[in-house]
Amino acid sequence: MIVPAAGRGERLGPGAPKALRVLGGVPMLVHAVRALASARSIDLVVVAAPEDGVAEVVALLGEHGLLDADGARAGAMVVAGGDTRQDSVARALHALPPDIDVVLVHDAARPLVPTSLVDSVAFAVRGGAEAVVPGLPVADTVKAVDPLETVTATLDRSSLRAIQTPQGFRRTTLTAAHAAADPDAPATDDAGLVELVGGTVLVVPGDEEAFKVTRPLDLVLAEAVLARRRAAGVVA
Ligand code: C5P
Repeated sequence: MIVPAAGRGERLGPGAPKALRVLGGVPMLVHAVRALASARSIDLVVVAAPEDGVAEVVALLGEHGLLDADGARAGAMVVAGGDTRQDSVARALHALPPDIDVVLVHDAARPLVPTSLVDSVAFAVRGGAEAVVPGLPVADTVKAVDPLETVTATLDRSSLRAIQTPQGFRRTTLTAAHAAADPDAPATDDAGLVELVGGTVLVVPGDEEAFKVTRPLDLVLAEAVLARRRAAGVVA
């Protein structure tokens, strides 16, 4: 499992790198790594930290007992991320031990991902798919615009999916896609790189709680989801 967590999170407003912003008293990255490490399908979590924040992330994960495998949970390691998400994922991919043949990539910015979604993506890859992404139907009408914001087309909503992470891959597929990637035109997700080299990407049902924390209102929603889970006794 690779977790790109090196983004600055500028759309959230000024402050710490996004993955280190706090949710329910705990940094988002800790929520995400906890959820991933407790999935049955995950053996190792490799976090791509901000280049100048590796020591801080190592200390943070250590504090929360997430660095060493303890038998019940997967272990975690930390590498330095890059200037783009694509670069951060590539660096983590290089650091993966050789015996891992299925790789999932999950944004630290989706801290409340349910463990069941992680397992369902891993299951689909183990079942034979080379690339798997979770997707949800799109609620809004989506239009394409030109540089002057004039609408050029209304897309057929029934054929659109909003794509989340974790995205799952055969390791050979993901490695080949990253090797062919253009560093000057970075992709916003890993499946996009697989598509560029002609690979087949399968969509499985996503989960609303795997939403990405991007803008300030997303933090409000995340706090509410966390409070609901705590009230239900799902998390401590
Ligand atoms: O910017 P965006 O929301 O698409 O970022 C998705 C994920 O990629 C976030 O978890 C972010 O921390 C990560 N990222 C990264 N390295 C970068 C930029 C973004 O690991 N240079």
